[in-house]
This record gives sequence, structure tokens and C-alpha cells, in this order.
Amino acid sequence: MKPREKPGCVYTVMDARCFDHPDCSVEVVIDKGTLDSVANLADRKVECKTMLREVFRVLRPGGKYFLITSCPLDASDDESEDEEDNHVQLVHDPEFKWKVVESEAIQRNKVRHMLYILIKANCDEESV
Ligand SMILES: C[S@@+](CC[C@H](N)C(=O)[O-])C[C@H]1O[C@@H](n2cnc3c(N)ncnc32)[C@H](O)[C@@H]1O
Repeated sequence: MKPREKPGCVYTVMDARCFDHPDCSVEVVIDKGTLDSVANLADRKVECKTMLREVFRVLRPGGKYFLITSCPLDASDDESEDEEDNHVQLVHDPEFKWKVVESEAIQRNKVRHMLYILIKANCDEESV
């Protein structure tokens, strides 16, 4: 069965920095490489933060953002690269009240892959 034929699934195309979905309406966001792609834009920090803000906005409290991100080892090992400049570090921004669960890194073919599960806190919970 092709993905598009799955009953109950509706496929739409939109900019991840500006979702059509209402606030707190989404149970799960799955991202493999989209935030990484947005990080290639000129003002990477602003663009990535805009996307993360949108993901946070549409998730319901307790909802989960599965973020799969990859970066070339050469870039991540470059000591001259400011850690602050790494877009993935934005997941730890205190603006976002989510619990961050981080996988061990998997390294293959000079690329480092990571899975983050970001769980949006309920209103009365603190982020971790
Ligand atoms: C590295 S590819 C990953 C594609 C797919 N998820 C996969 O794993 O094969 C990044 C994808 O993000 C999409 N993308 C880039 N900027 C986007 C944005 N602002 N909103 C939505 N998608 C975007 C690109 O079109 C591209 O399909």
C-alpha cells in the first residue's frame, strides 16, 4: 500500500515555519531533515527558531516532536565552530517548555545522526 492510500491520512504541503494548524491541535510532529534544511537558510538561527516556535505552538500539551537530525562529522568536530551557532542547540532554548530526550549519536559515513524527542510540557509543568 502506498503511503498516500492509507485510510484516514490527509497529506498537505506547507511551510514548517508557518503551519495552518491551530494552536495545540497536533499530537505528534515527525521531522527528518527539515530543521536541518531550514538551517541552510541565510539567517539560520532566526529561521530555525521560527520553525521550532511553530512546532511548539501546534503541539498539544504532552505532544511529541520527533526530530531526526544529521550533520557531517567534519562540521561537528570543527572546534572553530561556535557551539551556539549549531541550530540543534536551539532545542534547549528556555523559551520552549518541553522535555528534551536525546539519543546517543549514531555515526556512519562521516555523518552523525541524532534523534531528539521533545515533549511539550503541560501548562503546570516545568521543562527539563
Ligand atoms: C533533507 S530533506 C529530507 C526529506 C525527507 N524528510 C527524508 O527524510 O527523505 C529536507 C526536506 O525539507 C523540506 N523543507 C525545507 N524547508 C522547508 C520548510 N520551510 N517547510 C517545509 N519543508 C521544508 C525540503 O523540501 C526537503 O524535502
